Amino acid sequence: MNGSIHFYDYHPPVADIKAEVLGGLSKRPKQIPPKYFYDQRGSQLFDAITELPEYYPTRTELNILEANGEQIAEFLGDDCLLMELGSGSSRKIRVLLDALRPAAYVPLDISRDHLLSSAKALAKDYPHLDVHAACTDYSTEFELPELPGQLRRAAFFPGSSIGNFEPAEACALMRRVGAHLGQDGRLLIGVDLKKDNAILHAAYNDAQRLTAAFNLNLLQRINRELGGDFDLERFEHRAFFNEQAGRVEMHLLSRGPQQVMVAGSPIAFAAGESLHTENSYKYDIAEFQALAASSGFVAERVWTDDQQLFSVHCLRWAPRLN
Ligand code: AVI
Repeated sequence: MNGSIHFYDYHPPVADIKAEVLGGLSKRPKQIPPKYFYDQRGSQLFDAITELPEYYPTRTELNILEANGEQIAEFLGDDCLLMELGSGSSRKIRVLLDALRPAAYVPLDISRDHLLSSAKALAKDYPHLDVHAACTDYSTEFELPELPGQLRRAAFFPGSSIGNFEPAEACALMRRVGAHLGQDGRLLIGVDLKKDNAILHAAYNDAQRLTAAFNLNLLQRINRELGGDFDLERFEHRAFFNEQAGRVEMHLLSRGPQQVMVAGSPIAFAAGESLHTENSYKYDIAEFQALAASSGFVAERVWTDDQQLFSVHCLRWAPRLN
């Protein structure tokens, strides 16, 4: 027997993507939001990155979830409506589902095909589960499908995807999540920690160059969806830890002076000019708890691994207390 599955498509139309990409390319320095990494190929590359020996966050977070499953399940509570932001391949939720029985699971992701195939696989493997998958851009004001109103709500936001937002945006996003949760709603969130530069450098400059391929795939996507003519050979992946800003930055550097067409507009690149594609903020625990507090959440618990590489926080939405 399969669990029931419902699909809701709130993906932004092509016109929004075009406006955002052209807007970013007209900024100085040029930038494109990292959410555009995740087309079908980008999602596959990201999944492959999560298996790399250098990319510690995924396996470390999974280990934390596995080691503390019972307590986490208690915190979220059975019979809740459990939404997951950026569900991707829905791998981490499986660890929670071994200890927790939500009444409904609501995966939210911007990558439509990936979301649908993962939701189907999950419904097959967890036949008791009611799955409501919504293709949506949760980085802006986002909709949730019409769902049974009386269920207590909880949210899971793994992978340190919160680190891909500027701290002020992260705060605004957490407030939006809180508003969807309601008073005392629980948020379980994975946050990557500050650490030795060499570990960070290796994680974003892997030997197999999968991270480079993931970064460059953004140009391929623009070529396909916005009629661009980027030559991928003429751009170079660059990732480094910006100590002062507390974040890993990813860029694509132009290998020479060149002009590229995107959606009918000419875009000029100087030699060595950067297109900034991602920030990945790293926090220490107190720093993240302060961010959570300024977003209206009370920090209830936090777990880390032995090496303090990664943290998983249990937060409670109590906006009036802050
Ligand atoms: C999804 N996000 C948390 C990843 C990160 O580490 O910032 C995306 C990624 N970028 C390069 N490698 C992985």
